Amino acid sequence: MSEIKRIGVMTGGGDCPGLNAVIRAVTKTAIMKYGLEVVGIKHGYRGLFLGEKEFVNLTLDNTDQILAEGGTILFSSNKDNLFDYTFEDETGVHHGDYSHVGVENLKKAGIDALVVIGGDGTLTSGRDFSRLGIKVIGVPKTIDNDLAATDTTFGFDTAVAAATDAMDRLKTTARSHSRIICVEAMGRYAGFLALATGIAGAADAILLPEIEFDLDKVAETLKKNRDNGKEWALVVVAEGAKEKGGKVIVSKVVEDSPDPIRLGGVAAYVAEELEKRVGLESRATVLGHVQRGGSPTANDRILSTRYGSAAVELLMEGKFGNMVILKGNEMSYESLENVIGNNKGVEVDGELVKVAKAMGVSFGD
Ligand code: F6P
Repeated sequence: MSEIKRIGVMTGGGDCPGLNAVIRAVTKTAIMKYGLEVVGIKHGYRGLFLGEKEFVNLTLDNTDQILAEGGTILFSSNKDNLFDYTFEDETGVHHGDYSHVGVENLKKAGIDALVVIGGDGTLTSGRDFSRLGIKVIGVPKTIDNDLAATDTTFGFDTAVAAATDAMDRLKTTARSHSRIICVEAMGRYAGFLALATGIAGAADAILLPEIEFDLDKVAETLKKNRDNGKEWALVVVAEGAKEKGGKVIVSKVVEDSPDPIRLGGVAAYVAEELEKRVGLESRATVLGHVQRGGSPTANDRILSTRYGSAAVELLMEGKFGNMVILKGNEMSYESLENVIGNNKGVEVDGELVKVAKAMGVSFGD
């Protein structure tokens, strides 16, 4: 008989389409297959710190309708690390390691194990709670698809679909006005989202963090296209793309975030420079959080369901301290000790870059 009777589940970090589908899959697998109780912890680790008032029983009933819903019914926080925590009460501001409060709250609520769904920050805390002896399973989430340990993260497919839809819309207006439209895609320091969007949305140029760009080279391609009668262009610019010898453009620094840099603004720069070089009027569109919102695609609903169900299976097999991963087409796992900070980028000589080049796409290299 397993010693696990009641499990907690939480979402941390930036949201991502498919989080609710994971929550539903964890709940259904836990209740229907193993007869467990499931407690949702609201607002990530902040909820764990605050305890009972942030805990909600998850049932077949209240998770029944959430498969197709974007966001997270448990809400999220990307600032709360209980191992290095700041909070304020009537006696003042306090700072320090408050992980013991989280551990006590789990005990008080009779929660035997924890499924943490999140990015690097959330999973780092998951690893640290695991080191304290809490039975933890991590589920990775990010639209950026930049985690080395897993082949694909849920949310990526939905983000690409949203961005591709935007490309289709921008194409008709760019064509009508003979303009260049530079489309800024999210993805932080990885170009997976921009590359997929550029291929699916028939971009003329794709600028990635992994390939420093030369705007004269991009302009050369757009001028050639213009001379051949295509007097408009779509250029996908990853928010982390940078010019040869240049730096990434930062739009905001969120001081109290574990990952304070927010990228943004590079598409505006590229649009201005291409207008000068190509002689076509140019505009920039920042897709921003449009890529993170909304209902997950069918593929992401399936992938999220697999991640959630696999997390409960790992718990029941006693494989604590691991993160669920997708390898090839198999769900598997990797130690939380090995996955933190282990990011991947687009292979610059990979098949996708080659196929885009075969379509005449410039990478500015
Ligand atoms: O990591 C996911 C992501 O959406 C990145 O693509 C983007 O750079 C960042 O989060 C935006 O963060 P925030 O939601 O804090 O603005």
